[in-house]
Amino acid sequence: MPSWMPGAVGYEVYVRSFADSDGDGFGDVPGVTQRLPYLAELGVDIVWLTPFYESPGADHGYDVSDPRAVDERFGTLDDVRTLCDTAHALGLRVLVDIVPNHVSDQHAWFRGALAGDAALRDRFVVVDGALEDGPPNNWLSHFGGPAWTHRPELGGWYMHLFLPEQPDLNWENQAVRDEYLDVVRFWLEVGVDGLRIDVTHSLLEDPQLRDNPWIAEVAHDAAPGVRFGAMAHVHDLDLDATAALFAPWRELAEANDAVLIGETYLLDPVRVARYVEDGLLHAAFWFPTLHTGWDHAAIAEALRLGVEVGRGRFGWPISSHDDPHAAERFGGGELGRRRALAFMTVVLGLPGVPFLMQGDELGLDNGVVDALEDPVALASGGAESRDGSRTPMPWAPGPNLGFTTGTPWLPLGSNRTDADTVQVQADDPTSALHTTRRLLAARRARPDLTGEAELVWLSSTEPLLAYRRGDTVVACTIGAAATLQLGSGSFAHASAPGATLEDGTLTLPADVAVIVDLRSQ
Ligand code: GLC
Repeated sequence: MPSWMPGAVGYEVYVRSFADSDGDGFGDVPGVTQRLPYLAELGVDIVWLTPFYESPGADHGYDVSDPRAVDERFGTLDDVRTLCDTAHALGLRVLVDIVPNHVSDQHAWFRGALAGDAALRDRFVVVDGALEDGPPNNWLSHFGGPAWTHRPELGGWYMHLFLPEQPDLNWENQAVRDEYLDVVRFWLEVGVDGLRIDVTHSLLEDPQLRDNPWIAEVAHDAAPGVRFGAMAHVHDLDLDATAALFAPWRELAEANDAVLIGETYLLDPVRVARYVEDGLLHAAFWFPTLHTGWDHAAIAEALRLGVEVGRGRFGWPISSHDDPHAAERFGGGELGRRRALAFMTVVLGLPGVPFLMQGDELGLDNGVVDALEDPVALASGGAESRDGSRTPMPWAPGPNLGFTTGTPWLPLGSNRTDADTVQVQADDPTSALHTTRRLLAARRARPDLTGEAELVWLSSTEPLLAYRRGDTVVACTIGAAATLQLGSGSFAHASAPGATLEDGTLTLPADVAVIVDLRSQ
């Protein structure tokens, strides 16, 4: 593990929605570079950039047609070098997003396969067969419909766990493994400090292509996520041999003082933990916290499992570009903001790597947009959509709240106001932005929270969630006020006003979290 990693806090930049430097409506790499001082001042350590590679954009950059080329909408390779240099000068580390499970159907390999190159065809998961025969098995695409599309040019069906425009690669093929090791090497040489690995758990499939069992009855026209969830993904996801594929990546990372973090979208912590065994990834995201409302039992369980099984090797997303923002999950508006700041306080004290997503520091809920841009939204007529969590960052009052001088690729959201912007919040010491900065500073100042100190739960009884690490206590109320006997101490942080610590009793109003230093009065 790189020496800079322990205790680090990550920040997800959804590049196309962060900051537009040239007025084309898309956030870009130079836009991120310009805002790096803002992130350094915020107090995060790692900046993860979502894909900026050459891509037709069917899945907003997760359909990569050249993993070594920067899409001209987002800048140039030199812009990425400048971003890395600027980040390093500010003490920040940079992660890029590698997408090894699939490529774009416009990638040279897939085009070559369609043109009849048998060696290239073997780099994809293709099964001989006629259209009339139907797909080889019952596997589904995450984004709706079967995971198979027929192409006469291929003489059969090719597999895609996502869009038909995202053919899955065949990770049994050594040329695929060699290529991605080389892509990793390429970006490490450019100067990045690590990788976020897209759908880490998806690379291998059952060689016999057996049907997945259904675990729930589901209508044929149910939304894609609902249908996908009605199946046990025993043959298309998370095969036992998948985690070991990353051993050579780890060697390369170690040689470059770089870090590997997996997007392991699995709900069983024991399965996630397999990816962070010795010699594999440094950290793996634990996502169940993104699936709870403001529900004490559900949050407590998701945190407990992640702490117990993750043992400091799990990444904790506060929000992500694939799920609703924390403030949205917890009710939206001012109440959602208050709860999200409390949640962030609890998560930031856990062992592991917390990750904010852009806008979390502003307490943003989802942007309200009519547009349907996300392929999931298009497939479900808007019933399921990731658009609202991807709306552009509000920087300052004025046109498009300072995101772009052009027309934003996705509207900012009819609910966004000047009060949501960085500029307005920077002038208000009680804002979410200042609260987040104070939280990050308080955490950084407490080795109990950034180091190895064991976590002991003090309360998992509704409405209180509290734990102790060393001489530091983190406590949060979910839904109602509560008290906790603590002894003497003082507040190192409070997510909102109103908490007291008198005569050894901590009293918290509803939906507030505090960090208490037990050593000081
Ligand atoms: C990951 C990404 C998501 C993308 C998918 C397919 O889950 O986070 O945005 O759609 O992979 O690449």
